[in-house]
Amino acid sequence: MFITFEGPDGSGKTTQARLLAEHLRRRGYTVVLTREPGGTPIGDQIRAILHDPRNTAMDARAEILLFSASRAQHVARLIRPALARGEIVISDRYADSTLAYQGYGRGLDLEHLREITAFATGGLTPSLTLYLDIAPQDGLRRRRLGGGEWTRLDAEALEFHERVRAGYEALARLEPERWVRVDAARPVEEIQEEIRAIVEGRLRAARG
Ligand code: TYD
Repeated sequence: MFITFEGPDGSGKTTQARLLAEHLRRRGYTVVLTREPGGTPIGDQIRAILHDPRNTAMDARAEILLFSASRAQHVARLIRPALARGEIVISDRYADSTLAYQGYGRGLDLEHLREITAFATGGLTPSLTLYLDIAPQDGLRRRRLGGGEWTRLDAEALEFHERVRAGYEALARLEPERWVRVDAARPVEEIQEEIRAIVEGRLRAARG
């Protein structure tokens, strides 16, 4: 089972992904917890370029190819091998981030992005995408207060983040069986409880 977390910055994805991984491990599953950009040594080097606040001159096409290069390495070296071993893979962001941020956020052509993404991933799609939804201003505020890493993309205008959110909503509507929206403006434990129930339901269904 390949589970991805999506949502705006500061939606708490990282915490929720970690808590879910710990829970599933306690239940006896082997879980690979990973993230994008990154997830592999080469991916982490690409991540550093993408996040460096000095790189304001980055062209939008260069940006998408860097995210995609990180993703190609991630799928080939980490995700596919783990799935082949029958493990559960949980990724904090995946290809939908590209469609939401570079497509809806930056306005790059969605069909091109889908082609680049299909090339990078060999067509690997998550079985379940948990979408942690929160208003962009609340997410960014949480991020700043929480002392989390402040990246080049966090510094984008609020309108950019509004477009990203609308993008996620559009993507979720296109594939309602894969996407589950979770209200992220609630206490951590409450959100985690809902996520566990969703994932356990899917695991039961998968076992038949
Ligand atoms: P990260 O530090 O992982 O932030 P978060 O905790 O919010 O996930 O930074 C990832 C940033 O990169 C985030 O602003 C979203 C952006 N991003 C894209 O624009 N496109 C992509 O394909 C991916 C994977 C991330």
